[in-house]
Amino acid sequence: MAIKFRLVLLSLFCLVFKTISAAPISPGSSLSASNGNQTWSSPDSTFSLGFIPADPPTSPPSFIAAITYSGGVPIWSAGSEICVDSGGTLQFLSSGTLQLVNGSGDTLWDSNTTGRGVSSAKLDETGNLMLRNGTASVWSSFDNPTDTIVPSQNFTVGKVLRSGLYSFKLIRNGVLTLLWNNSILYWNQGLNSSVTTNLTSPSLILKSIGILTISDPKLATAAIFAYSNEDAEAGDILRFLKLESDGNVRIYSSTKGSGTKVERWAAVTDQCQVFGYCGNMGICSYNDSNPICGCASLNFEPVDPKDSRQGCKRKMEIEDCPQNMTMLDLDHTRFLTYPPETDSHIFFVGISACKLNCLANSACDASTSLSDGTGQCYYKTPGYLSGYHSPAMTSSSYMKVCGPVVPNPPSSLERACKKKGWKMKVWILVLVVVASLLGLTAVEGGLWWWFCRKSHSFGSLSAQHALFEYASGAPVQFSYKELEHSTKKFKEKLGAGGFGAVYKGILANRTVVAVKRLEGIEQGEKQFKMEVYGLLHQLGDLHTRAMFGFESISLQQRKRIVLCSPI
Ligand SMILES: *[C@@H]1O[C@H](CO)[C@@H](O)[C@H](O)[C@H]1NC(C)=O
Ligand SMILES: *[C@@H]1O[C@H](CO)[C@@H](O)[C@H](O)[C@H]1NC(C)=O
Ligand SMILES: *[C@@H]1O[C@H](CO)[C@@H](O)[C@H](O)[C@H]1NC(C)=O
Ligand SMILES: *[C@@H]1O[C@H](CO)[C@@H](O)[C@H](O)[C@H]1NC(C)=O
Ligand SMILES: *[C@@H]1O[C@H](CO)[C@@H](O)[C@H](O)[C@H]1NC(C)=O
Ligand SMILES: *[C@@H]1O[C@H](CO)[C@@H](O)[C@H](O)[C@H]1NC(C)=O
Ligand SMILES: *[C@@H]1O[C@H](CO)[C@@H](O)[C@H](O)[C@H]1NC(C)=O
Ligand SMILES: *[C@@H]1O[C@H](CO)[C@@H](O)[C@H](O)[C@H]1NC(C)=O
Ligand SMILES: *[C@@H]1O[C@H](CO)[C@@H](O)[C@H](O)[C@H]1NC(C)=O
Ligand SMILES: *[C@@H]1O[C@H](CO)[C@@H](O)[C@H](O)[C@H]1NC(C)=O
Repeated sequence: MAIKFRLVLLSLFCLVFKTISAAPISPGSSLSASNGNQTWSSPDSTFSLGFIPADPPTSPPSFIAAITYSGGVPIWSAGSEICVDSGGTLQFLSSGTLQLVNGSGDTLWDSNTTGRGVSSAKLDETGNLMLRNGTASVWSSFDNPTDTIVPSQNFTVGKVLRSGLYSFKLIRNGVLTLLWNNSILYWNQGLNSSVTTNLTSPSLILKSIGILTISDPKLATAAIFAYSNEDAEAGDILRFLKLESDGNVRIYSSTKGSGTKVERWAAVTDQCQVFGYCGNMGICSYNDSNPICGCASLNFEPVDPKDSRQGCKRKMEIEDCPQNMTMLDLDHTRFLTYPPETDSHIFFVGISACKLNCLANSACDASTSLSDGTGQCYYKTPGYLSGYHSPAMTSSSYMKVCGPVVPNPPSSLERACKKKGWKMKVWILVLVVVASLLGLTAVEGGLWWWFCRKSHSFGSLSAQHALFEYASGAPVQFSYKELEHSTKKFKEKLGAGGFGAVYKGILANRTVVAVKRLEGIEQGEKQFKMEVYGLLHQLGDLHTRAMFGFESISLQQRKRIVLCSPI
C-alpha cells in the first residue's frame, strides 16, 4: 500500500515537473546573460533558448541569446548574433513583445509584437519559438530565421538567411542564390528548367534525413536539391543548413547532446569562388587543400595582420602618386565575379592593352584579361576587389600600385617545390646512371633516354607550373605520388574500361578529375602510344587535357601511368 502510494506520488511529481518545464512561457519572464543555466526549454529539452558565450569568445565576455540544439549547437539567435554584456537580459514583456536588452538598459532587438494579443510564448520540439495569441502563432523564429534552417522549417520566397555581408535566398523560380552585400550574386543553382519554369510559391525544406528539397503546389512530389545523408550515422541526429560567416552554405549533422557538428554538404565547392572571402583586395588561393588569403604584393599590407580574411590595403594610395603609377602583374589570377560580371566594364582587347588601357584610365583600378582566346578584358572600377589566384587559371590580372612593384617573397610552398624539383633532377640522374650500369637492351635504353630527357625538362618545373600548363590546354605531368594523393590511393572507382580502371580524384584547386590507371600495356612503345592517343580521343572534347603521371618509365612500370581529365 505504502509502496503504491509512493509510486503514485512519484508519477504525480513527474507529471507536475514535466508540465512545469513544458509550460508556455508567460509574459513577465526573463532570462539573464549572467546565468547561462537559466533557459526556456522545449517539452523534451531537445531545444532550449538561453544565453551562450559569443563565438569566438571576447574579453570582457559577451553573450548572444540563442536557441540551441541539445548539446549547445545554435540554430537561431536574437537579432542575428547581437552581443550583450553579462548584464544583458532577454525579456518577454507583459505587452507581449520579446526584447534583448543590454546591461545599460538599451533595447538591441525587439520582436515588435506589442499590441498583437500575445499571451504566451512556446518553444516546441522542432526548435520553433512562437509568440502566441491563444494557440495561434503571431510571430515565430521559423518565420524570422537568422542563419540556419532546421527540418520542418519552411523557407519560402522573401525569407533570407544572413551572415555578415552574405545572404542566402530562394527566388520565385525555385533557384537558390548567395549574394554579397545584397548586390553581387556569386552562386546560384536551381533545379532543371522543366521543373522550375512553372513554380508558383516554392519552399525549401530540409528533411530530417538530410535531403534538401524544393516543394511547390505545382509539383506532385518535392524535387530533390541535394543529398547530405550518410549511412554510418545512428541515433538522434539533427541535420541543419547554415549560412556561415565565410559566405558558404553548408548542411551539417549534430548528434544529440554532442555539441559538435559535422559538415555533410557545401553549396560552393570552391571556397575561393565566394566573393569577398579574402576581403577587399585580398587574394584567395589554396595551400594544399585549405583556402588561404594573402595580399597581391608587398605594395599592400593586411588590414588586420591577425585576420587575413579582413583584406589588404595599399601602403600608398594611388591618389597620392599620380605621376608614378605602375601595373602589378598577377599571373593566373582573376578578380571575381564572372560570369556573370556585374560591376565592371567589358572590352575586347589584347592582353597588353587590357593592362595599359587600365593604367591610363583613372576610372580603372584593376583589370583582368581572360587569356582564353576570346580577348575579353574586364575593368574594375574603384570599389571592392576580390581576387582568386590558382595555377590552373589562364587569366591574368593587373592592379594599379604606387611606384615600383615589390613582389611577395616566394612562399614556403614554392620553395619546397623548387627543392623537390632539384631533388627530382638528382634522382633522375641517378636513375639514368643505374639504368646504363644495368646494361639495358638497346631498345630499352633508347626508350629510357627518350622519356628521361622528357622528365628532365619537366623536372625543374614546380607542380604549379604543371598545373598552369594544364590550364593552357597542353598535356601536363603529375607525379604518380600526386595522383595517388589526389585519388586517395585510388580509393573511389568510377568505372573500368579497356586497359584499366577509372578513379575519382580531386586536385589541389578542387578540380574534380577522372584518373585512368593503365594496366597491362607492357608490350612496347608503339602500343603504349596508341593506347594513350586512343584514350585522349575517348576523353574527347576541347577541354580535355591529358596528364601523365609517372615517376620513372621503365616498361615494368607502365602500369603506373595514369591519365586524368577534368569532369
Ligand atoms: C551552472 O551549472 C553548472 C553545472 O550544472 C554549475 O557548475 C554552475 O555553477 C552553474 N552556474 C550558475 C551560474 O548557476
Ligand atoms: C548598450 O547598447 C548601446 C547601444 O547599442 C551601447 O551604446 C552601449 O554601449 C551598450 N552598453 C553595454 C554595457 O554594452
Ligand atoms: C522592430 O521595429 C524597429 C523599428 O521599426 C525596427 O528597426 C526593427 O528592425 C524591428 N525588429 C524586427 C525584429 O523586425
Ligand atoms: C487574439 O485572438 C483572438 C481569438 O482568435 C482574436 O479575437 C483577437 O483579435 C486576437 N488579438 C489580436 C490583438 O490580434
Ligand atoms: C510553406 O509555406 C507556404 C507559405 O506560407 C505554404 O504555402 C506552404 O504550403 C508551406 N509548405 C509546407 C511544406 O509547409
Ligand atoms: C555595400 O553596399 C553599400 C551600398 O549598397 C555600400 O555603401 C557599401 O560600401 C558596400 N559595402 C562594402 C564593404 O563595399
Ligand atoms: C528534371 O527533373 C525531373 C524531376 O526531378 C526529372 O524527371 C527529369 O528527368 C529532369 N530532366 C532533366 C533534363 O534532367
Ligand atoms: C508549365 O506550364 C505550361 C503552360 O501553363 C504547360 O504547357 C507545361 O506543360 C507546364 N510544364 C510543366 C513541366 O509542368
Ligand atoms: C594550409 O593552411 C592551413 C590554415 O591556414 C594550415 O593549418 C595548414 O597547415 C596549411 N597547410 C600547408 C600544407 O601549408
Ligand atoms: C617615382 O618613384 C621613384 C622611385 O620609386 C622616385 O625616385 C621618384 O621620386 C618618384 N616620382 C614622383 C613624381 O613621385
